Amino acid sequence: MNIGIIGAGHIGKALAQDFIKAGHRVAVANSRGPESLQGLIAELGPQATALSAQEAAEFGEILVETVPFAKVPDLAKLPLAGKIVIDTANYYPQRDGQIDLGGHSEGSWVAQQLPGARVVKAFNAIAAADLASQGDVSKPVGERRAIFVSSDDQQAKQTVSRLIEEIGFAAMDTGTLAGSAVNQNGAPLYGKNVTISEGQKIIDQEMK
Ligand SMILES: NC(=O)c1ccc[n+]([C@@H]2O[C@H](COP(=O)([O-])OP(=O)(O)OC[C@H]3O[C@@H](n4cnc5c(N)ncnc54)[C@H](OP(=O)(O)O)[C@@H]3O)[C@@H](O)[C@H]2O)c1
Repeated sequence: MNIGIIGAGHIGKALAQDFIKAGHRVAVANSRGPESLQGLIAELGPQATALSAQEAAEFGEILVETVPFAKVPDLAKLPLAGKIVIDTANYYPQRDGQIDLGGHSEGSWVAQQLPGARVVKAFNAIAAADLASQGDVSKPVGERRAIFVSSDDQQAKQTVSRLIEEIGFAAMDTGTLAGSAVNQNGAPLYGKNVTISEGQKIIDQEMK
């Protein structure tokens, strides 16, 4: 599959490595242009290419947005309509400045910024270094680290869940984008290194 990754920092690089290992082709993009990404491409190897954000959005059957939270609205100009867009973003006011989420979860806010995109929140609650190192396809799914997945689009969520399993993690369904609040900054599942059943126990505990 062709995967376009908008944002070539910590998470963009880790996901590119994971997807390449699973046999996919990736195009990475940043804000400064493809020429600034030649070092990263040399590291990632022949399954990777650097493109502009517009070209990466056109290239990807699936896209990843992994830019700083405050920069997400910049991506609305890209051709995202009808495409699955994996949203890795987290909102840290001290880093991102004051943004009025209008009472929405971070995932719902991102989806509002990207009209027409099939937004799936995932990979936001794991550190980049762990994302690059903890996937293990040799383990049964029930023993793997869970990646929390939320979306209002069931089919898109299933597609992303399969991708998560392909790179050696387990996809834990955390419901809709509104429900993605359980794995945003400060919430019970945020940053937790758990299997699906351990994650479910945390959720059950919270709901008591
Ligand atoms: N780091 C982690 O461990 C971690 C874990 C989970 C989730 N997250 C979340 O994932 C997101 C990305 O985090 P990160 O740590 O990977 O960030 P990062 O290392 O700072 O990288 C951000 C990337 O986004 C690019 N970018 C910024 N504005 C852009 C635009 N308008 N168009 C295209 N590309 C743009 C930057 O390119 P330029 O350098 O060219 O501007 C850079 O390549 C954040 O929301 C973060 O909270 C991070």
